Amino acid sequence: MDDAHTEDSDPNASAVDALGHKLTAVGGGKGGVGKSLTSVNLATYFALQGRRVVLIDGDLGGADLHTLLGMAPPRLSLASFIKREVETLDEILVETPVPGLKLMAGGSDILGLANPQFAQKMKLIRHLKKLAADEVILDLGAGTSFAVLDLFNAAAERIAVLTPDPTAIQDTYAFLKTALHRRLKRDLAARNAPDEALKDTILEAIEGGSGRRVATIEELRERVAGVSEEATSKLDAILADYRPWVILNMATTAEGRATADSLGKVARDFISMELRHAGTVERDPEMARSVRRMRPHLLDHRDGPRWRDFSGIAANIIAGRSGAPAAPRVRAHTAIDPPPLPKDALS
Ligand SMILES: Nc1ncnc2c1ncn2[C@@H]1O[C@H](COP(=O)(O)OP(=O)(O)OP(=O)(O)O)[C@@H](O)[C@H]1O
Ligand SMILES: [Mg+2]
Repeated sequence: MDDAHTEDSDPNASAVDALGHKLTAVGGGKGGVGKSLTSVNLATYFALQGRRVVLIDGDLGGADLHTLLGMAPPRLSLASFIKREVETLDEILVETPVPGLKLMAGGSDILGLANPQFAQKMKLIRHLKKLAADEVILDLGAGTSFAVLDLFNAAAERIAVLTPDPTAIQDTYAFLKTALHRRLKRDLAARNAPDEALKDTILEAIEGGSGRRVATIEELRERVAGVSEEATSKLDAILADYRPWVILNMATTAEGRATADSLGKVARDFISMELRHAGTVERDPEMARSVRRMRPHLLDHRDGPRWRDFSGIAANIIAGRSGAPAAPRVRAHTAIDPPPLPKDALS
């Protein structure tokens, strides 16, 4: 998670803050796959383990985490912060029915702000890093708006939630690719970057000017290596650091493993991204019922099978933080088998 070249004010910086918590963003692109339910239950699990947890409703288009927690819409929300009605994020934190878990609500009138200005995002990230908590979990909305991508990229830890459906696999792959492209463009080819040749090389490779779009990140790396050694090292550092977790939801353990493996292979081969499988949450009618009861499932089932799912996921995420060395950069392969994606999703 070493990202020394990025500054505190850069929303793409890895957000390991001075207080020691890591900002964990939960995204993945596909709607309705269980991002929010996973965020709520992971947050609940951590809180019931005695950690101080902040759960943030980062779904700027349709905030509803308070409902999953059985709460009325809090008076103050992220919208209040973005609209400068409050000075600090602490002012909008509210207690939840889960001991140790505080919620930062998204606000229902935030739709018009779903694409906040870059400066607003930078400010939000700076303030998120200052929160006093052991875990900060940011639940993102579906899609690939700049707001979603920038918040996903700004987090120190990234989780993509998906189901084993082919459409979810495709959307997740497309989401991760788009997020990485945005990160590379911002870090290596920012509008005000001095090296025009490098900028042109990267934009042409990613955006495909004059039919020169690359098929793989490895190919992009070769082009970057042709223009700048420094940028090549930066690119390698970004790739070594950018290792999202995947959580398979509504799947059996075997389906989860197989899906993580096949998505992992495509991500490695085409976008040089090492995915880490945090675990699988099985489809469980009790999970769906918890939504209707407006109560986090784990709060009432501290020893059940879903508790064990989340305990495994949390253990993997925590183990991943204990200084495990970054995976070596992976070389792209030309063959994939079997590709779960249509050809045009790969370019
Ligand atoms: N493990 C599960 N077992 C059974 N049902 C589940 C499970 N996970 C999610 N669901 C069902 O899927 C629905 C959608 O979940 P959730 O709201 O968490 O998705 P989301 O990805 O956050 O959606 P959005 O993209 O709209 O934010 C839940 O209301 C619930 O009915
Ligand atoms: Mg959601």
